[in-house]
Amino acid sequence: MRRLEQRYEGKAKRVYATADPERFIIEYKDDATAFNARKRGVIAGKGALNNAVASAMFELLEAAGVPTHYLARLSPCEQLVKALSIIPLEVVVRNRAAGSFARRYGVAEGLALNPTVIEWCLKSDALGDPPLNDAAAVALGLASPELLAAMFELASGVNDLLREHLLDRGLELIDFKLEFGTSPEGGLVLADEISPDTCRLWDRETGEKLDKDRFRQDLGGVEAAYREVYRRLVSADSPF
Ligand code: TMP
Ligand code: ASP
Repeated sequence: MRRLEQRYEGKAKRVYATADPERFIIEYKDDATAFNARKRGVIAGKGALNNAVASAMFELLEAAGVPTHYLARLSPCEQLVKALSIIPLEVVVRNRAAGSFARRYGVAEGLALNPTVIEWCLKSDALGDPPLNDAAAVALGLASPELLAAMFELASGVNDLLREHLLDRGLELIDFKLEFGTSPEGGLVLADEISPDTCRLWDRETGEKLDKDRFRQDLGGVEAAYREVYRRLVSADSPF
């Protein structure tokens, strides 16, 4: 399937139409941003690595019965997906405190969170993706209470599946961000990506950060960390 006109360009991906109105092609970019794009850079090979990691994670979730937008990995940087209507909420799942949660509540990074925290943020770069609660999401017409409950359940199930799978491969899933869409039939479907851009992943033994925090915090070894995640989750063979 060939890509036609560009429909949307985000910070890390481009979305293209195809000849089939129910299918989009997503292209993963090497561009990296942080802090609402106030910090910008390029992580060499990231597009291909993230596409491979996200494809593997979507295949794992589909096999476990989670509906996702993923259909196929078409080329190193391209993925064929179902065209969805994206719900304008970012769903953040946190097993340990890190990032904006640790800053917001003044707690140490790494603090175990019990129960797992699931947060909604408004998907708006202009507003800096502010967190909001259920009442605000409903009052703003972003989602019904039933849809919020369904997203909570699905996000929680995805967390259980990913956490165990990653731990088996020596990675602790600290937190991650999901996005959902609805299909033309109205079903809730997992969209966007699952990669070291959208997850915090710490080495299970050493606690070393193997995700975009290496870029956000200028820790160095950014490309090597993305390659290591690929090695553990996709293939031990050299990627590309
Ligand atoms: P945060 O601690 O900065 O709010 O991030 C929580 C998780 O969500 C972390 O794994 C990174 C991911 N994330 C995104 O994928 N996109 C974003 O725009 C932000 C702010 C976070
Ligand atoms: N990608 C987001 C941005 O550029 C935030 C992040 O991942 O830190 O703002």
